[in-house]
Amino acid sequence: MTKRIFVTRRIPDIGISMLKAKGYEIVQGAYKVPPTKAELIKVIQKAKKQGKPFDAILTLLTDKVDADFIQAAAPSVKIISNYAVGYNNISLQDADKAGITITNTPGAFSDCIAEHTVALIFALTTRLVEADQYVRKGKYKGWDPMLFVGTDLSKRTVGILGAGHIGERVAMHLGKGFDMKVMYYDVKRNETLEKEYGAIFCANPEEIYKEADVISLHVPLLPSTTHMINKKTLAMMKKTAIVVNTARGPVVEEKALVEALKKGVIAGAGLDVFEFEPKISKELCKMSNVVLTPHIASARESARNEMATLAAQNIIDVLEGKTPVGLVKVN
Ligand code: DGY
Repeated sequence: MTKRIFVTRRIPDIGISMLKAKGYEIVQGAYKVPPTKAELIKVIQKAKKQGKPFDAILTLLTDKVDADFIQAAAPSVKIISNYAVGYNNISLQDADKAGITITNTPGAFSDCIAEHTVALIFALTTRLVEADQYVRKGKYKGWDPMLFVGTDLSKRTVGILGAGHIGERVAMHLGKGFDMKVMYYDVKRNETLEKEYGAIFCANPEEIYKEADVISLHVPLLPSTTHMINKKTLAMMKKTAIVVNTARGPVVEEKALVEALKKGVIAGAGLDVFEFEPKISKELCKMSNVVLTPHIASARESARNEMATLAAQNIIDVLEGKTPVGLVKVN
């Protein structure tokens, strides 16, 4: 029987073509904004009622794949392929119980997320966004030695929290390219970081909070990393420090960050992700020492195509009885 795949939203055609080339039938959501869990479950249940249940589902990081979703998907669905490196939107335990394989797209876009991280850091230290707005508003009346004075990166310290592929690339750009001292914290040591980029391992993130001028977040969202940046940890940082988050919103307690920025506890923040995404604190939006982007760190054609290819290949592998490259292991 023809295998049926539910792709919850639009993804680059390259992934869809791969699935079609295998003869699979594709049902693709046409939602303009992230669908609710109920909307997705309705599609899954309708397919079941029609006697044409899905064999695989390709989800996005905005799709809530919890016990209800898994229950609707089982027993026909063999794999849920997440079009993302993060998979905090999926209940691994429930999927495991239902015998559903979960996959992600590891390493597909480490480079572009690292570059976006560096862009946010530069935007803050050069005051790029503020200066751009100043010029556009017609406020520039002539050269001024005191206008938009920024800060250097060279010889300063960057603290990387989370030393996976992305953290490693950020360390490479800033350590090798900008002569920054690199400190890092992770639950396990990263030899490449230490050997290639001279990074100093910190067994405790507090060392980083106290010493770093730039604190860059690259940890996955786990119970242990939720609100890692909070009132207490912000208070340990230098008044001149900036925090950059291209990982997951809830790693930073947004309320505490807003307070810290208002009171000058730290100097600035660059955020691509938000605790209550897509909702963003109104106060953050008014601050000039903050640069905000709408979760676009991986938004490059190359990365998106690679993610689509990996997500499709994961489905093909599982449906053909092979081990997928993006297999997420359940602890
Ligand atoms: C991911 O895939 O986890 C990223 O957040 C997408 O930018």
